[in-house]
Amino acid sequence: MTMVVFDIVLFVAAVLLIIGLRKLSHPDSASRGNSLAAIALALGVLVAIFYPLQTQNNNYLYIGLGVLIGGIIGVVSAKKVAMTEMPEMVSLFNGFGGLSAGLISLVWLINNGSSGTASDLGVVLFNLFLGLLAFSGSIIAYGKLSGKLKDEHLKIPFSTAVNIILLLVNLGAIFYFAYVGVLSTLHLSLFLVFSLLYGVVFVAPIGGADMPVVISSLNSLTGITAAVSGIITDNKLMLLGGVLVGSSGIILTLLMCKAMNRPLLSVIFGNFSSAKGSENQVQGNAKEVTPADLAVQLAYSQRVCVVPGYGMAVAQAQKIVKEVEELLDEKDVEFKYAIHPVAGRMPGHMNVLLAEANVSYDKLLDLDDANSYLDTTDVAIIVGANDVVNPSALDDPSSKIYGMPILNLAKTKNVVVLKRSMNPGYAGIQNPLFFKDNTKMLFGDAKKSIEVILRELKEV
Ligand code: TAP
Repeated sequence: MTMVVFDIVLFVAAVLLIIGLRKLSHPDSASRGNSLAAIALALGVLVAIFYPLQTQNNNYLYIGLGVLIGGIIGVVSAKKVAMTEMPEMVSLFNGFGGLSAGLISLVWLINNGSSGTASDLGVVLFNLFLGLLAFSGSIIAYGKLSGKLKDEHLKIPFSTAVNIILLLVNLGAIFYFAYVGVLSTLHLSLFLVFSLLYGVVFVAPIGGADMPVVISSLNSLTGITAAVSGIITDNKLMLLGGVLVGSSGIILTLLMCKAMNRPLLSVIFGNFSSAKGSENQVQGNAKEVTPADLAVQLAYSQRVCVVPGYGMAVAQAQKIVKEVEELLDEKDVEFKYAIHPVAGRMPGHMNVLLAEANVSYDKLLDLDDANSYLDTTDVAIIVGANDVVNPSALDDPSSKIYGMPILNLAKTKNVVVLKRSMNPGYAGIQNPLFFKDNTKMLFGDAKKSIEVILRELKEV
């Protein structure tokens, strides 16, 4: 009878999770979707707490401690984290998700390793490998996103060859141990170390602008591991959640590959960013514009386009940008936002920020539409974007971002860049756009600069 109740609760949770995730796809319903998904996961946790105690009724202390410690860490870190640190936190949580799912396989191996069939052992070992790879890879990604680990700290000689060899060693070990059927503690420990090492080697060489693809592929690996762990523990909600995360992660990875114009195999074998360019030389004199001049230009324009980037998140400038949009609307100036798929530090970062400022969805243009629009735009204001507008991606084959589709401002009549200095963006390379004839710089924190522009605009 109790098992039937568990199954009904899991079914309800699964339905809530699917509806919740569906609602996340639109800003208007995203908040409700988040709450529904949270309720679904809370139900899943409750079932997981009571479910195993049907057969092993001595685990309350461990489970209680785990829930307490994990819960406190989760609540405190979610409350403390700044909006700009959200991508790092997501990466860290993704890593721990992979680790937990992987550890389920480890427990299974310890309890049932000697009695499992070859296929059982193979699947469980492969799952352990994926979980540990997602964990160590996500920790390295966290270090890179937070700036604690620089690309030069992680230089691995012959990284592509090391990557392939380590992958083959891990896969070979999985086949061998599944075939032989016994795994000593030493073998298991070595397998854990090599799996963790592969995660490091997988992510370490991937640099600068290519990180989005890696982050989405690590997400999908965690999802796949969770799905297999759902099968191992006969937990249907875990299976469903894992399948959803794994499949959406794979779709996102493919979309990111398309956005970065990188083949998926390059991700798997970690040979991104291998091109070397001398890209940090200043290439001329950048011209500046005053907020007053820019305000006049905006007021007399027909079409204005904002290109947001990571700096908008740092400055938290989205709400003040929206005020400029409203003022220009009153003056009958057409106003749009050009959204690059990897602008910011996490998928959909710009969409989230602009939704928070109540920017209407139909004002946002995706890459292709934005590029057509920018060709006929009078003034484009770049708010803290850099790599996603770097023309080296189009015309400098030696650039490490060469081939990545960008928001192209070559034909835009006037381009104004809001940033604090001439420092490069995430990829660490200088941007020739800043020295072009049609470009002017407005130095300073983006929010403060736009506040002044808004004041000036009210006077025009
Ligand atoms: P970036 O190229 O990182 O440039 C951001 C710019 O914002 C910097 O040049 C910085 O210049 C400026 N900035 C920072 N704080 C500012 C502030 N308070 N006010 C004004 N400007 C400020 O950003 P992007 O163009 O959005 O490109 C994103 C990059 O991150 C790409 O390389 C992408 O591959 C990578 N990445 C993306 C993701 C995802 S999934 N989106 C994940 C990982 C990595 P100053 O310091 O001079 O102000």
